[in-house]
Amino acid sequence: MKRPVTLTINGAPHAVEVEPRALLVQVLRDDLNLTGTHVGCDTSQCGACTVLIDGHAVKSCTVFALQAEGQAITTIEGIGSAEKLHPLQAAFWEKHGLQCGFCTPGMILCAADLLSRNPDPSEVEIRHAIEGNLCRCTGYQNIVAAIQSAAAAMGGTNAERTPASTTAKPAGVPAGAGV
Ligand code: FES
Ligand code: FES
Repeated sequence: MKRPVTLTINGAPHAVEVEPRALLVQVLRDDLNLTGTHVGCDTSQCGACTVLIDGHAVKSCTVFALQAEGQAITTIEGIGSAEKLHPLQAAFWEKHGLQCGFCTPGMILCAADLLSRNPDPSEVEIRHAIEGNLCRCTGYQNIVAAIQSAAAAMGGTNAERTPASTTAKPAGVPAGAGV
């Protein structure tokens, strides 16, 4: 039996009726058409479903939608726009931090959480922060470079300091990247 719930997503309230067993990622994608939040495993392994809840990176396949009521949910659709990319989105583009793009929304939101807590993370700290987010394409090097670049753009100073930041390639953003 469905229950009414109001979820605050990207600053706007969304009234939906959900089954108590419905996961947040299912409601985001299937009820609200916010398909930038991806499903890679459904078993809390991959991080493709990462969103921010009250500013903290959370795998949305581990949360019931009902549990998220009253909290501020941010998805990749709410972090920037095509006209004004978030510095992390711009850095992933500029540093070629993606290939297929499937992991990218989760990576960016995980990195956003990191940079909100640690504006100037070391390479080791970045790699530790994203260890719950799997990427099967990039080898991670350019993802780390992108996060370092975004940290610098947002006021940190650690970018361009390590070998990871020297691998930038010119790139466009593939379709479906969610950035
Ligand atoms: S779909 Fe949630 S962690 Fe993989
Ligand atoms: S899984 Fe393809 S870019 Fe990360």
